[in-house]
Amino acid sequence: MKGEEFLREYLDWSDLIKMTLAAEPLNAEPLSVAPKGIVVLGMGGSGIVGDVLYSLSTERLETPLTVVKDFRLPRWVDDGWLTLAVSYSGNTVETLACVDEALKRGSQVVVVASGGKLTELSMLKRLPYFRVPSGRTPRSSFPALLLGAVKLLSSLGINLREASELDVVEVFKSEEALKLGDELAGKLLSRLPVFISATKYYPLALRAKDEFNENTKTIAKAEVYPEGFHNDVVGWEGWRDPVSAVIFKERGDRTLEFLKELLAEAGVDTHTYELDGGYLQNVIRWSQVVGIASVNLALRLGIDPKETRFIAKYKEFLRSSDQLE
Ligand code: F6R
Repeated sequence: MKGEEFLREYLDWSDLIKMTLAAEPLNAEPLSVAPKGIVVLGMGGSGIVGDVLYSLSTERLETPLTVVKDFRLPRWVDDGWLTLAVSYSGNTVETLACVDEALKRGSQVVVVASGGKLTELSMLKRLPYFRVPSGRTPRSSFPALLLGAVKLLSSLGINLREASELDVVEVFKSEEALKLGDELAGKLLSRLPVFISATKYYPLALRAKDEFNENTKTIAKAEVYPEGFHNDVVGWEGWRDPVSAVIFKERGDRTLEFLKELLAEAGVDTHTYELDGGYLQNVIRWSQVVGIASVNLALRLGIDPKETRFIAKYKEFLRSSDQLE
């Protein structure tokens, strides 16, 4: 069955990671002048890379890094900024519009893609470029997009990873992810999933939400804490719908422990997963688990996990629309 083949695109992440770590970016040399700031472009499955890089940057960079998921670049991005465009297809309209604007403003543009217009542009203008394997979906290519971006930035002299961190992500146990994913799918059957994390792990909660949206075709939510203690938590006081809370929590995170107590008091069906590796390792490993869980749940429900009909319709709408010309 088609969906089962798609599951393999999540189970082969170990090989995908090895291939990505072995590949080298093109046209990439250390920048002669450090950028004033870095803007990361990308939508959906490609855009999540920007969220991870943002979280890493808050602890590991002196340079500000911001994420744009829109048609327009902020006014303050100028020729002193580095623009990293991530698009699996290389054809995403929002990303292309910002790249066009960044080039006009004289910003150095660098690209992660598997093909499309962004690849053509990179070849034409000899832009620093990392090519990821084609023929997959953006979401099942997540480790390639993320590690490709980390490698590309590192070859420009911007180091977002801790020593040996990339070696650690190589050691993946797909059988374990399959087991955890199957279990999580069972827990979320006929329930609306709410993925919760600390701010630092927002990209993981968002990844999980997006995976359930796209693979399982269900509404899902991502919430981050401590911000959630100022709003979301009150919603749990009076929850009525068949919802489940899935918490991704670092060991020793006392605020999320406290949240668990509140959810238990409110009788919420809650599942907690402990994150106990390095940051990149945790994000990739648990993204694999939620990817598998969302595909597994789709298969149980007789849904095609791969097809994303409304995204395709939106892209068709953009192609046929002249509002954006
Ligand atoms: C995920 C998915 C979408 C795309 C998004 C942007 O699998 O299909 O979220 O990632 O529409 O497209 P790309 O990634 O090609 O830039």
